[in-house]
Amino acid sequence: MNASDARTLPIGVFDSGVGGLTVLKALRDALPREDLIYLGDTARLPYGTKSPASISRYACQATAQLQQKNIKLLVVACNTASAVALDALREQMHPLPVIGVVEPGATAAVEARPAGKHLVLATEATVRLGAYRKAILEKDPAAKIDELACELLVSLAEEGWNGGAIAEAIVRRYLIELDDASRHPDSVILGCTHFPLLRNTFASVFDKGTSIVDSASTTAAAARELLDSLSLTNDQDAPGTLRLLATDGATRFARVGGQFLGQQLTYKDVTIVDL
Ligand code: DGL
Repeated sequence: MNASDARTLPIGVFDSGVGGLTVLKALRDALPREDLIYLGDTARLPYGTKSPASISRYACQATAQLQQKNIKLLVVACNTASAVALDALREQMHPLPVIGVVEPGATAAVEARPAGKHLVLATEATVRLGAYRKAILEKDPAAKIDELACELLVSLAEEGWNGGAIAEAIVRRYLIELDDASRHPDSVILGCTHFPLLRNTFASVFDKGTSIVDSASTTAAAARELLDSLSLTNDQDAPGTLRLLATDGATRFARVGGQFLGQQLTYKDVTIVDL
């Protein structure tokens, strides 16, 4: 394949379910001419409570499905899969590039609050591996980091209960797990695809002036830079296309996913695939 053909290939975006549509939305904004294929592994969601071995196996299978579609870049929109399986996915995709969301999220937090005190909210698996802690400390050894697993917030976001008294009470309940100083961070890192939907709730629970950081826009910027540096940017005139694949439940994917993407979807927009 010559270089100009390679530019027209799609970008593959993978997540454990619908949450990664927050990242897909940022990618579409940053790269409006790129064709995108999104795969949500809804049959096996959630990944955040599973073992690293299962998460890795699932992520590699999902990536194999996207490789069959001839993608030029893989964006791992799932924080949990990025935390657990990024090296395995890079090996599988080699020599094609892979971007995860943890590294760009860490960059955004360090840029927002240099030498700051960060609180990472994420799934159990992401917290267990300390993925954000490692990525932040590599960039800013003076940073202080607390990490808190908040599994219930994944279900809350999928239910659409993103604001109001219930959401606030649940976030406050999680914060009881921390000591008093850690409840007042300089930045709160939304280390899970679902948490940007609860942004307003976090803003009302944490101190005024706390930076609330998510990785969607920094991941999209990293993807744009990488494609440019590899001369893989699609320069077609037409807007890019979007294909949505899921491993289960087209109707639920469309209903819940539409909230994450900020666009109405129907089951007809979603193709069910088997890994
Ligand atoms: N996509 C996952 C993440 O960002 C959240 C949902 C799950 O646990 O699968 O960590």
